[in-house]
Amino acid sequence: MTRTHLDQTLANSRVVVVAGSGGVGKTTLSAALAVRAAIGGRRVAVVTIDPAKRLADALGIAGQTAIGNEPVRIPLDDAHGELWALMLDTRSTFDALVDRYSPNADQAQRIRSNLFYKNISGALSGTQEYMAAEKLYDLNGDERFDLVIVDTPPTRQALDFLSAPARLRRFIDHPVYRIVIAPSSVGLRAVSAVSQPVLRAIAKVVGAQALDDALAFFRAFQGLDAGFRQRAHDVDRVLHEPSTAYIIVTSGQAEPVAEATYFVDALESANVAVSLVVANRLMPYFGGGDISLPAPLAGNLRELADERRAEESNLEVLRTARPDTPWIRVPLVPELVDERLDTFASLRLLGRALGDAD
Ligand SMILES: Nc1ncnc2c1ncn2[C@@H]1O[C@H](COP(=O)(O)OP(=O)(O)OP(=O)(O)O)[C@@H](O)[C@H]1O
Ligand SMILES: [Mg+2]
Repeated sequence: MTRTHLDQTLANSRVVVVAGSGGVGKTTLSAALAVRAAIGGRRVAVVTIDPAKRLADALGIAGQTAIGNEPVRIPLDDAHGELWALMLDTRSTFDALVDRYSPNADQAQRIRSNLFYKNISGALSGTQEYMAAEKLYDLNGDERFDLVIVDTPPTRQALDFLSAPARLRRFIDHPVYRIVIAPSSVGLRAVSAVSQPVLRAIAKVVGAQALDDALAFFRAFQGLDAGFRQRAHDVDRVLHEPSTAYIIVTSGQAEPVAEATYFVDALESANVAVSLVVANRLMPYFGGGDISLPAPLAGNLRELADERRAEESNLEVLRTARPDTPWIRVPLVPELVDERLDTFASLRLLGRALGDAD
């Protein structure tokens, strides 16, 4: 039932968001799901967020092409569909938005060269989540693709990704932001910002130069806010559409399983149904103890069997808490462990394993 559920999710969704706690295999599974969907006939774009670039490199080796912020086609002989991959570059995605909504090239240039902008566009917490959502929106409207699979950044807050557009809107509408941009709109640009008490206090903490950069940014940003607000609204709509599916990944360890349970609850209270939970990298079953092995090996086998039992009881907690949420198991694929063979071949392997799962 669940295997069919996975393939149905890949066949019927326009967007699949892959979320879960850190290190559980989100990036790897996003790529493997994309491979599977492309083999099955869909024209897929997969956006990965992998700062280490290992996965992108692995895909790039197969395609002899470097993977960047724009989709590149990955050759896949046995596919009925197409596989395209890109790696989210937060900064370039933000730059593209600035260009799109700036009234003229001059203003875009002023924003892009501003120091404060340079800092927030790459590093501000939340920017990456929003830009991932933004990229998703952009690809969703791209006629080359009929399925977009989005890897999400590692996060402790289940809803960071989902709530990113709303947070951006709140920021734009925040009274402080309005106050900060106000002087230039009433022609008081010449008055030093630092003469205002609130800002003077802030300047003491962050430094006058940093504050001036920030103010210059907000002023330059004027005129773009309406566009950004509308865009955030549209992105939000796509995140909540029924054709957008959410897949939660977990390992068999107690903590990620508890987090996955929490993720499912949190998404549901935000009116988003989780299509599938993937329990990834599970210990394989090594058979019964009917062969006699030398002591060290028998000891190893016992340890692995203990680990497998622990995983099963951790997952039981999830199944009991969420009996209606479909889920599948994905075994540990030895080729993917460590950096041994993080290649396209192993992704295909995993893509196929997804079908055999359960
Ligand atoms: N089924 C699997 N079998 C074996 N190894 C796996 C499997 N799935 C993922 N891995 C390995 O686990 C490691 C972490 O995977 P990955 O980078 O995809 O996790 P992530 O959730 O994206 O991490 P992060 O939260 O840091 O972005 C990688 O070395 C990957 O090759
Ligand atoms: Mg990742």
